[in-house]
Amino acid sequence: MKKIFVYGGNKVNGDVKISGSKNSSLSIIISSLLSNEDILIKNIPNIKDINVLLKILKLLGSKINFINSNLYINNKNINKNIIPLYLSKLIRSSINIIPSILLRFGEVKISFPGGCNFCKRPIDLHIKVFKDFNIKIINLNKKYIELKMFKKITNKKIYIKKISVGVTLNAIFLSVLSYGKFIINNVSTEPEVIDTINFLNTIGANINIINNTLIIYGVKKLYGGVYKVLSDRIETGTFLLSCVLNKGSLYCLNTNNKYLTKIIDVLKISGANIKTGNDYIYISMYKKHKPVTFSSNVYPEFPTDLQPIFTNLNIINNNKISYITENIFFNRFSHVNELINMGANIKILSNFKILCTGVNNIFGKTIYAKDLRCSMSLILAGTYAIGQSVIIDKGDYIDRGYENIFYKLKSIGINILYFNYF
Ligand code: EPZ
Repeated sequence: MKKIFVYGGNKVNGDVKISGSKNSSLSIIISSLLSNEDILIKNIPNIKDINVLLKILKLLGSKINFINSNLYINNKNINKNIIPLYLSKLIRSSINIIPSILLRFGEVKISFPGGCNFCKRPIDLHIKVFKDFNIKIINLNKKYIELKMFKKITNKKIYIKKISVGVTLNAIFLSVLSYGKFIINNVSTEPEVIDTINFLNTIGANINIINNTLIIYGVKKLYGGVYKVLSDRIETGTFLLSCVLNKGSLYCLNTNNKYLTKIIDVLKISGANIKTGNDYIYISMYKKHKPVTFSSNVYPEFPTDLQPIFTNLNIINNNKISYITENIFFNRFSHVNELINMGANIKILSNFKILCTGVNNIFGKTIYAKDLRCSMSLILAGTYAIGQSVIIDKGDYIDRGYENIFYKLKSIGINILYFNYF
């Protein structure tokens, strides 16, 4: 277990190199399972969730070499269709391994997916898509899922009832190597999904997107290739926010504003000055930031993964009122009680909305990380709290999604340290 200490009050200055996108990397690595040729994927972050996925693939028989953000992978020797349950239950995206294993072996056994448990995360829409592709559910319980595919389907038109990243990915993975034409309606167009589509088309897939509809022509096989994963827009937004909360100036390198329009809009409303280039974003803040009322929703709206982190914008501003609405996940407010413990004035109005009333200060306290984005929210709260904030109990959540995070935060002036305890 990791105990994290943050000492508030420092300004932010300097520059930070943004890593590759966690969620893009996970889905692109998984989509490489559809090919048996040599593939090089660049800009992969060395984080816990990636290492769990690579461990799974190695156990299935993949040949893997992961050095300095470059992942060399060849999946031709995959020879197992039982995904190690103790590993696949650790990450949400393990559910996206199912299609390629079914296409190889006709059957698969895998744990119920894991991932951050900030709320109930059902898999009913995944099950619906599997059934749409004539996949038989042999076993489905809280522990594991067993599925069988008797033959590939040809020509299918499906509608996904609710926009979902993971379900869209599974529909894509089930279509690219099947026969005929597949029309998938109401898909997710999150940048990480588009990045995965671009990767698959680089190695021979035929995927076209028109608004929220995918038209996929099945191909016989996929090939090898080289692909660079897009930068992590959630990490970029996190560091930009750290400058607004603590004042100062910051260059975020190896990133750009292509997928950050709404995020930058919110930061500008809070009073930040922002300049962007094709591989950097510069931010400066020399005055007190303003609170911002905002809502999360599917892309291109404000991303749900930054909602817990941007809550910090609305904590310290003398009695000013602001609202935050979370439109993707039910009750994604695991950070709220911890911020209240530090002195924030937040009221949960419903499972989708909170009311923030600004206070003069919050204070260092022992608080508890509950999931990845909650832990980052609390770390940033510690940067502007008076006195010492201790974040304990699974502080190692942070390692799931942020590469070298302690080094990066310290390098821009944040006073943070941690130690592991057992
Ligand atoms: C992906 O999760 C991301 N994870 C999440 O990032 C991200 O918050 C989420 O997409 C939304 O953008 C990865 O890519 C590994 P969804 P996913 O299916 O695919 C409901 C992070 O911190 N739903 O798009 O699991 C679901 O409950 C993580 O990096 C069903 O109801 O999310 C939610 O309300 C957190 N039934 C909505 O759809 C299903 O079968 C969107 O979730 C599946 C989803």
